[in-house]
Amino acid sequence: MSERKRVTIPIRVEPGTDLPAAERTAVLEAVNQNRALEGSLLPILHAIQDRLGWIPPRTLPLIAYELNLTRAEVHGVVTFYHYFRQHPPGKQVIYLCRAEACQAVGAVSLEAHAKRALGIDFHGTSGDGRYTLEPVYCLGNCASGPSLMIDRELYGRMTPERFDDLIAADAAGATSAAATSAGATRA
Ligand code: FES
Repeated sequence: MSERKRVTIPIRVEPGTDLPAAERTAVLEAVNQNRALEGSLLPILHAIQDRLGWIPPRTLPLIAYELNLTRAEVHGVVTFYHYFRQHPPGKQVIYLCRAEACQAVGAVSLEAHAKRALGIDFHGTSGDGRYTLEPVYCLGNCASGPSLMIDRELYGRMTPERFDDLIAADAAGATSAAATSAGATRA
């Protein structure tokens, strides 16, 4: 009796089936909502980051699969734009304005102070996981710079001292009261 030759049929497994449900849903919804757009990768990445706060590297294969791109292409875009985070952000994201009008009224020293105070550079997250520091180019509050945004609240006329007060108050869970008493202007 002749022995049958065993044939192995490769099964193509869709990437992303082992992703946490929240990440898989975020990717698939972002793809479904933006797939028809020209240059859909960027809006898809924005939608994912808006939802998750970052672009988990493990989601790249699924994004690539859905858009019929290579993983290298998706990875190249994610790493090209500093805006896209490849690590989870802190509990609060502090957006510090680096645009010209704010630079002219003290944003440079504010930036140096903020980095020193938090012990991080831009795109970094403080050791306690509480704050992520991000640069932003104009918050639309140019007349009252230097400006920053934290927890979606906009603050103007920020100084290093007021920054410290804001952080201390935030840590104490009383951001608004301390910012007001410290003289920072909420725009
Ligand atoms: S330049 Fe800073 S808010 Fe416009």
